Amino acid sequence: MDPHFPLPKSEPSANFLDTIRTSIASNLATILGDEANPVVYASIEISREGPYDLELAVPKLGAVLKDMNPSEVAAKYTPDELIEAVAASGSSLSFSIRSASMMRQVLGMIYSTSQSSERGYGTNTLGNGKRLVIEFSSPDIAMPFHVGHRRSTVIGVALSNLYAANGWDVTKLNYLGDWGAQCALLTAGFEKYGSKEQLETEDPILYLYSVYLVIYSADFKTKDGQRKQNTKQMVKDYFNRLEKGDPHLIEMLQRFRELSILEYIKIYERFNVQFDVYDGELLVSAESIKKVMDQLGKQGLLIGVTTEDGRKPKRGKREVEEGENKHEDNPAKDLALAIDLNEFKLGKPVLQNPDGTTTHILRDIAAAIDRYQKYHFDKMLYVVGNQQDLHFAQCFKILSLLKDCTFDASEKLKHINFSQVKGMATPSLAVASDAVFLKEILDIAKEKMMKRIKASPEKFETIEDPELTSDQIGMTAIKVQDMQAKRIMSYQFDWDRMTSFEGDTGPYLQYTHVRLCSMERKVSLEDGLAISSLESIDTSLLLSTPEAREIVFHLATFPDVVRTALKTHEPSNLVTYCFKLVHLISSAWETIVVEGLVYRGEKEVAEARLLLYVCAKSVLGSAMKMLSLTPLERM
Ligand code: ARG
Repeated sequence: MDPHFPLPKSEPSANFLDTIRTSIASNLATILGDEANPVVYASIEISREGPYDLELAVPKLGAVLKDMNPSEVAAKYTPDELIEAVAASGSSLSFSIRSASMMRQVLGMIYSTSQSSERGYGTNTLGNGKRLVIEFSSPDIAMPFHVGHRRSTVIGVALSNLYAANGWDVTKLNYLGDWGAQCALLTAGFEKYGSKEQLETEDPILYLYSVYLVIYSADFKTKDGQRKQNTKQMVKDYFNRLEKGDPHLIEMLQRFRELSILEYIKIYERFNVQFDVYDGELLVSAESIKKVMDQLGKQGLLIGVTTEDGRKPKRGKREVEEGENKHEDNPAKDLALAIDLNEFKLGKPVLQNPDGTTTHILRDIAAAIDRYQKYHFDKMLYVVGNQQDLHFAQCFKILSLLKDCTFDASEKLKHINFSQVKGMATPSLAVASDAVFLKEILDIAKEKMMKRIKASPEKFETIEDPELTSDQIGMTAIKVQDMQAKRIMSYQFDWDRMTSFEGDTGPYLQYTHVRLCSMERKVSLEDGLAISSLESIDTSLLLSTPEAREIVFHLATFPDVVRTALKTHEPSNLVTYCFKLVHLISSAWETIVVEGLVYRGEKEVAEARLLLYVCAKSVLGSAMKMLSLTPLERM
């Protein structure tokens, strides 16, 4: 084999298209010269429309084409085991993969990897040795889990799985909002209205939220001017005490944190999400915070601003913002400390309030430094909604300005943003329409799915655990809706559409997986059909049905999709892949029938077809798992 191959980023043993690309590149290198190798390899793309499978845009070849024209190149390319036809069309070279080789190799690869416990089909080792820290979800303690937190959780867990599938070592981190003026109000509220006993015996998140709502409406938003003024002063005092490390308040917040985490773990578990670390603003080290401020001071980057002047870091909707008050009694302390990022068009984020308390952005900067020290990540992602675009741009910029920062923030940190979801109303909770506890959404989805599956009593009988099944389908509906559009697209939350079993929905993915499983069970029971060994199956028997070729080609592209979705940080790439797969499968049911063939004496054909479906099921299942869905076997 050519010494240049396999090229970096190429894994022919796990990705059939890598084999094809390698072969085309090497063949074209004999025609065009060695320098064509990497250029060709990197430029081969999957054709959008038939009849060819792959395409090479001629302009991409540039100088390596020398003065040959594309048709001459095509004419010189000798068809072989892997490529059966080459054509020059307009400004591109097109290639058809030899169907028989593709059927045998792709199905063989999928089936044998599904049988061994090693790396699954579609995964690769490109990220081996690299470490990712990914922060997502990050709700504020004692507050409802709003849609932004949910979309962050859904996208975050899928990206974590995608990185792992690409060979990275992944640490999933939840950075709880357990600090700031809002928490100061919460601690004050708990002292005034809270009960330790209720805290320990009730759902702590709901309980703390109810305490928060009491102080918020009775004292903070009251029409009584004096009372309101006193409360504002109290929030300031409490926040100050927190910053100074008042043991009583810190202990209280620690307890809120611990109890909330226990509750979060349960609900995340139901959502099929596990975190490696529950971090939080409270845990950011005072030492790093001080170091950041000292260093920025030393570099002459800090400026004093009145708080109206400095733009407060935007972190979504927070009604109780810090940094709003001035120390009337101490004019020298009237100024907040900010950093002027106007030359980067990033405003003047405030790092320290006039009373010395820290802002969220300062904590984020120090937290990044703490995390680098702890994890030595190659990359750290923050999966947070796009209302915080400015916040993260400022945060990363400040880190890159810091002279003693031990890592290159502009290279290693990335904000994975997403748009907001519209129209997220639920009936029961009397909170802002976008702020709904995750549990409530899951309950509603589950109930809707339960109704659906109860509608066909014969099937319902066969389901072992209808509660769990409806919960899983409901969760699939929610997650798929959150992921099917590109991150940047906002979408309209729609209960009817997302819970439908038709169209591009989560339930339809589950339905197809279940149908594949039940077909497999049926032919095993009725026809005694099962795949015993790969060697005995003649995949060329699939050649007569074009639908089979389409499915196999789509299966061949899965490893590429796993790579691309990582590059774009778009779980939607994977969702789109799944939808296309289930559509191909559903159009194959009529033409590629398995049932009954054995009795007609066509056992070999039946086996080859069964292999096709088994492989399709395996890939659909793997893709669903990467999206953190649990593929169901019955429903
Ligand atoms: N807790 C914040 C919120 O609910 C999100 C935190 C995002 N992460 C960060 N490192 N700032 O809005």
